[in-house]
Amino acid sequence: MKRTILITGGAGFIGSHVIRRFVKKYSDYTIVNADNLTYAGNLGNLTDIDREPNYKFRKVDIVDKKAVSALFDEFRFDGVIHLAAESHVDRSITSPDEFILTNILGTVNLLAAFRDVKPESDAARLFYHISTDEVYGSLEHGGFFTEQTPYDPRSPYSASKASSDHMVRAFGNTYKLPFVISNCSNNYGPNQFPEKLIPLTINNIKSKRQIPVYGKGENIRDWLYVEDHAAAIDVIFHKGNPGETYNVGGDNEWKNIDLVRLMCSIMDRKLGRNAGSSENLITFVTDRAGHDLRYAIDSSKLQKELGWKPSVTFEQGMEMTVDWYLANEKWLATIISGDYSKYYEEMYGNR
Ligand code: NAD
Ligand code: DAU
Repeated sequence: MKRTILITGGAGFIGSHVIRRFVKKYSDYTIVNADNLTYAGNLGNLTDIDREPNYKFRKVDIVDKKAVSALFDEFRFDGVIHLAAESHVDRSITSPDEFILTNILGTVNLLAAFRDVKPESDAARLFYHISTDEVYGSLEHGGFFTEQTPYDPRSPYSASKASSDHMVRAFGNTYKLPFVISNCSNNYGPNQFPEKLIPLTINNIKSKRQIPVYGKGENIRDWLYVEDHAAAIDVIFHKGNPGETYNVGGDNEWKNIDLVRLMCSIMDRKLGRNAGSSENLITFVTDRAGHDLRYAIDSSKLQKELGWKPSVTFEQGMEMTVDWYLANEKWLATIISGDYSKYYEEMYGNR
C-alpha cells in the first residue's frame, strides 16, 4: 500500500535506525525525515540510504509552526512517527528551555498540523509518539513500570516528555486524533552521540581518558539494543491499537558501575590491552542532580499482544556496539570535533 509517512528526528540516534528500517523494508512508502540537525542530528548516519527513491529529507524545526504547517501542505502525511526531541537528561538540568520548546511545543505543532491535514492515501491515519520510561519516575522500592504506572517525572527532560505524552492523549480525546504512544527504556548501539553513558565510556577508554561514573555507580538502567527498539516501533506503528500505550524494554537491568566494568573488559580484549587495565580509568564524580535510582520496564503487553521480543542478547549487542565504534573512527572524530569538547569541559572539567 502506498503511504506518506513523516519520521521526525531521523538524523538522530534512534531515528536513523528507524528511517533505515522503513526505507529498506517499505519501498511503497514515501518516508520523509524532518530534522533541524541540532548537535545530536547527523545526516552522516544515513549515507547508506539517502539516495533511495522512497526517502526524502527536509530541514525543519518543529518549534516553527509555519515551517511545520508548510511541510504538511507539501506532503499530506497519513502517518507520523515522532522522535525529534532534546534527549539528554544532563543538558535538561543545565538548560531546560530547549526541552520545553522542542519536546512540548514542537509536539503540539505536529499534532495540530496532523489534525488539520487531508491525507493523500486511504491508509488509516496514525500519530505515533515515541516516549521514554523516565515519565514513570524512579523505582526506589522494586517492581517494574507497567502501562498503568502513574506518571511521576523528576527531571526537566522527563517532565517535558510527560507533558508531550499528555498533549498527545489530549489531542486524541478532544479531536479524535488516532494515536499510539510507546515508552522505552535506555537504548544503546551504533550512532549514539557520545554524551550518553555507553558511547562516552567506549570513547574514553579508547583514548585512555577518565570514565566519569556519577555518585557511587549504584543507579540501575534497563538496556535495549537500538535495532530492537526500531523493530518494536515498526510493529507498533503497523499493528498497535489506536489509543493504546506500549512499554518497550530489554528485561536487562545493569548497575552503572557493573556495566562500566563490563565495557572495560570488552575494550581491553578488543584493544589488546592487559585485562583489567581500563578499570583504572574509572572515576567517581559528583552525582547528577535528582538522579533517578532505577528504571525497569515490564514489556509483557507488547510481547503478548503484538508478538515483539528483543532479538539480540546484551552480550551480542555490546559486542556489535563496541565493534561499530572501533570501526567508525571517522564518524566519532567528526562528532567530537565540534562543540563536543566545550560541552565535555563544562560537564566534567578537563579530565
Ligand atoms: P537524539 O538526541 O539522538 O536525536 C534527536 C534528534 O531530534 C536529532 O536528530 C535532532 O537534530 C532532532 N531534533 C532536536 N530538536 C529538534 C527540533 N526542534 N526540530 C527538529 N528536529 C529536532 O535522540 P534519541 O536518543 O535518538 O531519542 C529519540 C527519541 O526517543 C526521543 O524522543 C527520546 O525522548 C526517545 N527515547 C530515547 C531513548 C534513548 O535511550 N536514547 C529511550 C527512550 C525514548
Ligand atoms: O530511560 C530512557 C532514557 O535513557 C531516554 O529517555 C533518554 O533520552 C536517554 O538519554 C537515557 O537517559 P539516561 O539518563 O538514563 O542515560 P545516560 O546515558 O545519560 O545515563 C545512563 C546512566 O549512567 C545514568 O544513571 C547516569 C549515568 N552516567 C551517565 C553519564 C553520561 C554516568 O554515571 N556517567 C556519565 O558520564
